[in-house]
Amino acid sequence: MRPNTVQWRSADGRFYLKPDPSLDPLTPGGVDIIDQTLLPGSLKRITLSTPETIYDAIQRLAVRGAPAIGCAAALGLAACAQRFGTEDCAEFLRKLRQTAEYLESSRPTAVNLSWALRRCCGRTVSAQEKTVAGLLKILLTEALEILDEDIAMCSAIGQNGRTLIRDGMGILTHCNAGALATGGCGTALAPIYAAQEAGLRIRVYSDETRPLLQGARLTAWELLYSGIDVTTICDSMAAQVMREGRVDLVIVGADRVAANGDAANKIGTYQLAIAANYHHIPFYVAIPSSTIDRAAPDGSAIPIEQRHESEITTINGLRISPQKIKVYNPAFDVTPASLITGYITEKGVCSSI
Ligand code: MRU
Repeated sequence: MRPNTVQWRSADGRFYLKPDPSLDPLTPGGVDIIDQTLLPGSLKRITLSTPETIYDAIQRLAVRGAPAIGCAAALGLAACAQRFGTEDCAEFLRKLRQTAEYLESSRPTAVNLSWALRRCCGRTVSAQEKTVAGLLKILLTEALEILDEDIAMCSAIGQNGRTLIRDGMGILTHCNAGALATGGCGTALAPIYAAQEAGLRIRVYSDETRPLLQGARLTAWELLYSGIDVTTICDSMAAQVMREGRVDLVIVGADRVAANGDAANKIGTYQLAIAANYHHIPFYVAIPSSTIDRAAPDGSAIPIEQRHESEITTINGLRISPQKIKVYNPAFDVTPASLITGYITEKGVCSSI
């Protein structure tokens, strides 16, 4: 069985993936994650409970993938709130908003992060609770509900997307939109897991996904872990692999989908969509509805995270570029809706959002 990427760890060491009446919201626990920076070499979990460590884990991609960072931030906010050290409701809510704003600033592109934090704050602020204990119960329950819903949405995306897959197909994916990137079994990889469970034979091509190699490190690791036939290719090989007839379907995830269907995903997705379009290969984006941002009319309204130059000039700490080289490192790009065949969501497969 695949390990859970994000879970709640209570003080007595028990793990939770959904609200549970036996869980005491007043005893400080923490958000427990797999440190993805260490994969595939080592599978190590860390439990976080302070704003700084949660911000840092999201920023350095110890926890990553749009739905996973939403779930981690929500549970992380609850862990921080348990340690506010006040019995005053107004003071508690002020600290809650302040901490949520800080966590939200850790990464800008994935809308799931702000969506989950705002949902937790909104639910807690609007509750007619008169005690901090009551507010904490509402907050932790909401955070665990977000995780529970994400797990259910991933399963539904898997079942819906599985209808696109035929026996013997070659499927190409980019970055990691699997179990490691969500609370459940993934978005783009969920239909692949569902096809495997249905006994279909499939071959997966996983782009390595420079600069941080989420495909070569994470997608390769989790698909191998599940016994799925996976082949890693360099990003620059995708068009050639398509021309050789090895790819029947492309499925990717997304960090934010605008109201017109433009989809921001890991850098390199756009050129993949162009190549798929040229070769008449269907190109699908798999997303939970928490990834849709109706406030963004189109892709130009999506903020694109710029990351540190060292991600490009070094590999595993080893410098590969000349000193003083200029570097441009956008972490995401936007694929226009016109290049997207359809969207696989928890509600079904559709050609527009
Ligand atoms: O920078 P990352 O690794 O967080 O980027 C992740 C992606 O681009 C994923 O494809 C996206 O978040 C969808 S995860 C289900």
